[in-house]
Amino acid sequence: MKSPPTDRRVLTLFPFILASVLIFGITRLVTETSSASWSRALRRSFPAIFSSARRNAAELDHVLDRRCNLFEGKWVLDEHNSRPLYTEDSCPYLTRQLTCQRNGRPDSLYQKWRWKPHSCDLPRFDAVKLLESLRNKRLMFIGDSIQRTQWESMVCLLQSGAADNKKYLHKDPPRKIFVAEEFNASIEFYWAPFIVESNSDHATKHTVQKRLVHLDSIAKHGRNWKGVDVMVFNSYVWWMYKPLINATIGTLDIWQYGVPTAYRMALQTWAKWIESTVNPQNQKLFFMSSSPTHLWSWEWKAGSSGNCFNETYPIEGPYWGTGSSLDIMGAVRDALRGLKVKVTLLNITQLSEFRKDGHTSVYTERRGKLLTSEQRSEPNVYADCIHWCLPGVPDTWNEILYAHLLNRKS
Ligand SMILES: *[C@@H]1O[C@H](CO)[C@@H](O)[C@H](O)[C@H]1NC(C)=O
Ligand SMILES: *[C@@H]1O[C@H](CO)[C@@H](O)[C@H](O)[C@H]1NC(C)=O
Ligand SMILES: *[C@@H]1O[C@H](CO)[C@@H](O)[C@H](O)[C@H]1NC(C)=O
Ligand SMILES: *[C@@H]1O[C@H](CO)[C@@H](O)[C@H](O)[C@H]1NC(C)=O
Repeated sequence: MKSPPTDRRVLTLFPFILASVLIFGITRLVTETSSASWSRALRRSFPAIFSSARRNAAELDHVLDRRCNLFEGKWVLDEHNSRPLYTEDSCPYLTRQLTCQRNGRPDSLYQKWRWKPHSCDLPRFDAVKLLESLRNKRLMFIGDSIQRTQWESMVCLLQSGAADNKKYLHKDPPRKIFVAEEFNASIEFYWAPFIVESNSDHATKHTVQKRLVHLDSIAKHGRNWKGVDVMVFNSYVWWMYKPLINATIGTLDIWQYGVPTAYRMALQTWAKWIESTVNPQNQKLFFMSSSPTHLWSWEWKAGSSGNCFNETYPIEGPYWGTGSSLDIMGAVRDALRGLKVKVTLLNITQLSEFRKDGHTSVYTERRGKLLTSEQRSEPNVYADCIHWCLPGVPDTWNEILYAHLLNRKS
C-alpha cells in the first residue's frame, strides 16, 4: 500500500453511506401536528397546490420550449388526481425493496406530487408513444442501485403500454431486461456502480466495505453497451464512502486517491470509451446527476437529530444538503463539456433535494429481508434515506427523460 499522490480535499460526506446503519444521535423526529393545522401549514407552504386547475391534462402534451429549464421549478400536489402514474398493485415488476406501502408505510402523500418547471409543464407521459419510439431499440440504464430504481420506474411507466402476454422481464446478470415484444423494444438495467470496472461488479455479491476501482478499465462493461440506442448513466453513492478510495491505474498497484480525483479519472476513461465507440447519429446518451440523500434532519430542521424517517412532505426551497457534492457535480460538468459526443446531463439533484419525504426509510428490506418491527422502531439505525419509494421521485426523473426523448426539439 503506497501513500497517496492525492487531492486531499475532504468531502463533508456520509462516511456511512450504504451502511446507513451507524447514524448516531437521540431519536427525536418531526413533531406531528394535527391534520387540520397540517393542511393549513401545507396551504401556506405550497399555495400553488390549491389554486384552481388551470390546465387540462391533455394540453400538457405539447412540444417543450427549449428555453424552459426543466430542473428549476417546484413540487405541486397534482390537481387532476393523476398521481401516482401507476400503483404498487398495477406494476408487477416492482421489487420489495421499493414498495413502501406494501411494506407498511402509513402515509401516501409522497406519491401525489408533480414536478412543475417554472416556465413550462412537463409533457404527459404516454407509454405507447415512448414504446413506439423505442421500436426495435434498446434503452439501457447503467449504474448503481439508484439507477436500478430509475429503471424499475421506467418499466412500470411503460409496461401498461404493452399487451399482457407480450411482455416479460428476465435476468441476465449483471443485466435485467424488460421486453415489450410487439415493439421489439427492450428496457435494460446494467449494474456498474462505478461505471468503470471495480471489485463490486457482481450483480448481487458485491463488496461494500472494501472497494477497489480500476480507473482505466471499462472494456468488460463496454462490450455490453455497444450499439445500445439510448444509454442513461449514473454513478455517485458508491464513491462517497470515505474521502479516499482505493484504486488501480494500469498496473496492479493499489493507491489511495482523493475521491474527486479518482472520479475525474474514471470519467475520462468513460469519455474515451464514448468517443471511440458511440455513433451520435443513432445513439443518444444521458447522464443523471447525483441522487441526494437525507441522512441528517438537522440540515432541514435545526435542532433535530433524526433522518428522513417520519418525513411526510417536501422541503420548500431553497435547500441543498451536504450529501450532494459540488466537487463531483463539477467533475461531471467538465467531463461532459470536454466530450465531442453530446451527452445530456439530467440535473435532477436540486429537485430531488426537496423530497426528504420520498425515501424508503424503514419500509424496505435489508439484505433481502423486510425490516422487523424491532428494527423499524430504531429508525436512526435502520432507516434507508438513500433509496426512493416507487411510485415516487424517480418517476419524475423519467418524465424528464421522456421529455428529452420525445418532446424536446434539441
Ligand atoms: C413518527 O410519527 C409517529 C406518528 O405518525 C409518532 O408516533 C412517532 O413518535 C414518530 N417517531 C419519531 C421517531 O418521531
Ligand atoms: C429487434 O431489436 C433489436 C435491437 O434491440 C434489433 O437488433 C433487431 O434487428 C430487431 N428485430 C427486428 C426484426 O427488427
Ligand atoms: C485501502 O485498502 C487497504 C488495505 O485493504 C485498507 O487498509 C484501507 O483502509 C483502504 N483505504 C480506503 C480508503 O478504503
Ligand atoms: C445542477 O444544478 C445545480 C443546482 O440546481 C447547480 O448547482 C449545478 O451546477 C448544476 N450542475 C451542472 C453540471 O450544471
